[in-house]
Amino acid sequence: MIKPDGVQRHLVGEIISRFEAKGFTLVGLKMMKVSRELAEQHYDVHKGKSFFSSLVDFIISAPVIAMIWEGENVVAAARKIIGATDPINAEPGSIRGDFGVSIGRNLIHGSDAIETARREIELWFKEEELVGWEPVRQSWLYE
Ligand code: RTP
Ligand code: MG
Repeated sequence: MIKPDGVQRHLVGEIISRFEAKGFTLVGLKMMKVSRELAEQHYDVHKGKSFFSSLVDFIISAPVIAMIWEGENVVAAARKIIGATDPINAEPGSIRGDFGVSIGRNLIHGSDAIETARREIELWFKEEELVGWEPVRQSWLYE
């Protein structure tokens, strides 16, 4: 999910192009204003932590781009493409390393495990919003 700061900073194209160029396939995409309820559910593992309420306020403060990317090891690869949570620790070349400055404005969320991804896809998308398709470049990406 491209967070409100990514949208406000006009980095949507830049961020999407990194996942496309890496070889992942987009199978779901929508721009939306997030309800407080959805934001709280999405981040419910962080309920009770000091940053929870400011995180929820931030996520609902402007539109986000929800995306589903498909491909081999996509969850682990996406975490690397995204970079460490605090941009100060994120490697140059990662999204947060290249564009982020502070932990509360780190541009993008990525699922942290396959199980989390399944849960988040169910939370954010309706079945009919998933678009399965067969990209022609696959044999040039995978042995
Ligand atoms: P995300 O869930 O947003 O993809 O980020 P993440 O896995 O890298 O980090 P996570 O630990 O899940 O934290 C979720 C988001 O909460 C904000 N945060 N602030 N002030 C703080 O100490 C603090 N810690 C986390 C960050 O915006 C982080 O992305
Ligand atoms: Mg997380």
